[in-house]
Amino acid sequence: MTTTTYPQVLTRRMTEHPADSHTLARYEATGGYQQARAAMGMTREQLVETVKESGLIGRGGAGFSAGMKWSFLAPPRPSYLVVNGDESEPGTFKDRQLLERDPHQMIEGIIIASVANEVHEAFIYIRGEYPKPARRVQHAIDEAYAAGYLGDGIFGSDYQLDVTVHLGGGAYICGEETALINSLEGRRGEPRLKPPYFPAAKGLYMLPTIVNNVETVSNLPHILEMGADAYKALGHDKDTGTFLFSVSGHVKRPGNYELPHGITWRELIFDIAGGMLDGRELKAWIPGGASAPWFVPEEHLDMPITKDDCGQAGSMLGSGAVIVMDDSTCMVKAAERVVRFFAHESCGQCTPCREGTTWMQQILARIEEGHGRAVDLDLLLDVSDNISPGLAWPPKMTTICPLGPSAVSPVTSLAKYFREEVEAHVTEGRCPLG
Ligand SMILES: Cc1cc2nc3c(=O)[nH]c(=O)nc-3n(C[C@H](O)[C@H](O)[C@H](O)COP(=O)(O)O)c2cc1C
Ligand code: SF4
Repeated sequence: MTTTTYPQVLTRRMTEHPADSHTLARYEATGGYQQARAAMGMTREQLVETVKESGLIGRGGAGFSAGMKWSFLAPPRPSYLVVNGDESEPGTFKDRQLLERDPHQMIEGIIIASVANEVHEAFIYIRGEYPKPARRVQHAIDEAYAAGYLGDGIFGSDYQLDVTVHLGGGAYICGEETALINSLEGRRGEPRLKPPYFPAAKGLYMLPTIVNNVETVSNLPHILEMGADAYKALGHDKDTGTFLFSVSGHVKRPGNYELPHGITWRELIFDIAGGMLDGRELKAWIPGGASAPWFVPEEHLDMPITKDDCGQAGSMLGSGAVIVMDDSTCMVKAAERVVRFFAHESCGQCTPCREGTTWMQQILARIEEGHGRAVDLDLLLDVSDNISPGLAWPPKMTTICPLGPSAVSPVTSLAKYFREEVEAHVTEGRCPLG
């Protein structure tokens, strides 16, 4: 975790006590589990209302109100809570730190979310490539059971809550909530059709299920502790609370930063992340994970970082992953690399995604290798249009889930900002950057 002068909430303990921030002893010595205790005396309505009032938006990428999602939970019980720690979006690495360095903060959030949603069985789905975070989480769960904070009669009440850790097999698509649910059930990790399979109505084992991201859940103890108004005041306008940005690429100080919304991209990239390496120029950045359309300095550097501003500019903050590229970057190569990822991770259910992402990757590869044709950019856009009709933002889709349209983002970004660079590859028969 890299610190700034902005208030730290979720990351304070790991910054101030790096040696033992993951232990129960440190967690309790710094006020831990007081809010879960308090939640035991609150009703579902009180908890849902508090989270709604706080304006907490899910941190997994879709940006949906947490309190609103909770209020949609269908009446049949039992209901389940699933915490999404699949974190496979390229450029995103904030949940890893939360899992590894402050697992009790998330577990306290799980207790609060469970009481609010009448859940007695919660699951934490962690990507398979995160063995240390998974070990730390399991150890923290064992500590919480031994202390009487999980299991039968938690905190001396008659409430029972069990929590199970499940390691994924490394598939990006299992981060999509319905694919994750399939995977938890032991099925292939393939997204389900929505409707009818909205998890809050028909989720795990076809029962009502709340799926929330690790960071979303980790916010809950702080919302109860400081109250909805103080939590809101930490943020900017509709973007309440703090937000974890994972900054990577050609910057001097890559890392995770806990920041309020409303600062500008210039402040994030140059002041906070230290600016460009080796005195190079900023060429472009991906503002919200590999699925997001790109931004360029001429248009976006002084734009405030808010959900609405990003949306109006044709992109999104997504999971908070900012990938910065300098002027040595071949944009065709960058697009090919991102599209190759999506082609590899496509689950294959939908023809436009299964076939289209592979075609797009092959076309980009031949342009990058100097074998491109003059029609190739139009062909890329045509294939993209079959996946995401109209090439609009937010994307429309011919597919079951948004993975297919995610592969379109680098292509539309190329066409919008780097058409000349693509054409130079074709006319010169090589990468113009050498
Ligand atoms: C292809 C794809 C991958 C996703 N990967 C993740 C992920 O790794 N972690 C995550 O929390 N949400 C991921 N999501 C979003 C989830 O479907 C879901 O919206 C989220 O877990 C809900 O939690 P939240 O409301 O707290 O954000 C992904 C969505 C898609 C379409
Ligand atoms: S869009 Fe792609 S990843 Fe999503 S369900 Fe269809 S084939 Fe699978």
